[in-house]
Amino acid sequence: MKIAIIGVGYVGLVSGLCFAKKHEVIFVDVDANKINLLNKGRIPFYEPNLNELCRQVSKRAKFTTDLSKAADADFIFVCTGTPTKGNDIDLSHIKNACKSVGKMIRGRNTYPIIVIKSTVVPKTTSSVLLPILEKHSKKKAGNGFGLCVNPEFLREGNAVEDFLEPDRIIIGASTEKDSKLLSDFYKKFFNDVYIAANNLNTAEMIKYCSNAFFPLLISFSNEFAEICERIPDVDVHAVLDAVSMDKRINQKVNGRFLHPGIVSYLKAGCGFGGSCFPKDLKALTSFIKKMNYKPELLQSILSINDSRVQGILNRIEKRLGNLKDKKICILGLSFKPNTDDIRESPSIYMIERLLEKSAKVFAHDPVAIKNAQMHFKDRKGVVFSEDISKALEASSCCIVMTSWEAYKKLDPQIFKEKMNAPLLVDCRRIYDKDIMKDYVDYVGIGLMSSGKPLK
Ligand SMILES: NC(=O)c1ccc[n+]([C@@H]2O[C@H](COP(=O)([O-])OP(=O)(O)OC[C@H]3O[C@@H](n4cnc5c(N)ncnc54)[C@H](O)[C@@H]3O)[C@@H](O)[C@H]2O)c1
Repeated sequence: MKIAIIGVGYVGLVSGLCFAKKHEVIFVDVDANKINLLNKGRIPFYEPNLNELCRQVSKRAKFTTDLSKAADADFIFVCTGTPTKGNDIDLSHIKNACKSVGKMIRGRNTYPIIVIKSTVVPKTTSSVLLPILEKHSKKKAGNGFGLCVNPEFLREGNAVEDFLEPDRIIIGASTEKDSKLLSDFYKKFFNDVYIAANNLNTAEMIKYCSNAFFPLLISFSNEFAEICERIPDVDVHAVLDAVSMDKRINQKVNGRFLHPGIVSYLKAGCGFGGSCFPKDLKALTSFIKKMNYKPELLQSILSINDSRVQGILNRIEKRLGNLKDKKICILGLSFKPNTDDIRESPSIYMIERLLEKSAKVFAHDPVAIKNAQMHFKDRKGVVFSEDISKALEASSCCIVMTSWEAYKKLDPQIFKEKMNAPLLVDCRRIYDKDIMKDYVDYVGIGLMSSGKPLK
C-alpha cells in the first residue's frame, strides 16, 4: 500500500511515520526547510520517540516538496494546518492542498482515497473541499476518487503512543465504498481497533465536540479555583481530587481505582493552550454563531481561559507592586510538558503581559527555548536560559507555567538560595504547599491568596 501525507507537521509526520511501519509513505510539504531537515534525518520539532521511529522506518519514508511524487498513492492523507483568522477557521492551507491534490490525480485511472485528517468545521469537506477536488481533478467523488474525513486525536508529548494505540478511529464518508476502503485499511493496520463510521459532517463534529469537552473540564476546574481562593482553608485540589473519586468518574475494579485520564483535566491551573483547544473552540463558536445560535457554554470556556493569565498577574502585582524592572523568572514555555510547541501557550501570554509592564523576564524551558526565541525575536526584556539556577538568580518572583518533570524534582532550597525574595507562584500545583512554605512565599492556584499556605 502506498500512502501520501500532505502537510508534514505534528499530525502529518507522526501519522506518516507510524504508517511507515507497514507501508511506503511519501511525505509532501511546501516548507522546503522542513523537508531538507527530514532528508538529513532530523525531526523539525520535539516529540518523544519520534527520532527513534524515524530511524526505524527510514527505508519506507520519503520526504519531498514535489507533490507529483505522490501521484500513485492509494491513500492521500491531508494534514495541513487549519489555524484561526480573526475568530474563524482559516481554510487557506487546506484549500490550496486540495487544489494541488486535485490537479495531481487528474488523468489517473486508479481510485485514490483522499482523507481529510486536518480538523475542519462541519460541512467543510462536503461543501468546500469536495468541489475544489472535483474541479481540479475533473473527476467526480465516488467515481474517480474517494473522499473521507478522519480526524486525529493524538496529543503532543504522547503522539506516537496515541497514534499507535488509538481508542477509536473516526471515519466520515458519503459512500459505503469509501468508508469501507478506509476502515479496511485501518483494520489491517491495527489488529484490533474500534471504528466509528459516520457521515462527513458527523465525523467533523465529533472532533470539535471532543476538543470542547476537555477544555470544558479545565475551565470548570479553573472557575472553582477562583471560588476556592476566596474562601479560607479551601484548597481547590482537595475539592477536585475528592470529586474525582466519585465512582461515576473513577470506578473501582477488583478493589483498585481505575484513575481514568479524564481526572487529569479536573485540575486547576493557568489555563489551556496549544494548537488545538483554543483555536478549535474559537472556530466552532464562530461557526455556530453564523447559524443564529449563541453557544453560551463554549464562550464561557474561552472567556474563563482568557482571563487566567491576567488573574494570576493581578495576584503577583498585589504582592510585588509595580513590576517595572523587577526580575521575574518563568519556568516553562511550552503549553504542556514533553513538547516544544508554544502555540497559544499561557506562558507566552504571561511573558507578553510582563513585558508590557516593563518587567525583566528570565525564562527557562527544557526544549522550547528556540521556538520562544523566534516568537520574541523583535522584543527586548526577555532573556532565555538553559540553566534553571541562572534563570532564578536574583529574581523577585518565580512563576511555574509548565509542569515539566525537571521542575517537580527541584530541591526547594534552590528557590530560597537563588532568588531575591522567594515568591513562588505555582500555576500547575506541582509542589507540596506544606513543604514549600518553609522555603518560599508560596502562592498556589486555588488556594486563598493570603500569602500563607493553608493547613
Ligand atoms: N498538533 C496536534 O496536536 C493536533 C492533534 C489533532 C489534530 N490536529 C489538527 O491537524 C491539523 C494539522 O495540525 P499540525 O499541528 O500538524 O499543523 P502544523 O502547522 O504543525 O503542520 C502543518 C504542515 O502543513 C504544511 N502545509 C501547509 N500548506 C500545505 C500545502 N498546500 N501542501 C503541503 N503542505 C502544506 C505546513 O508547511 C506545515 O508543515 C490541524 O487541522 C490541527 O487542528 C492537530
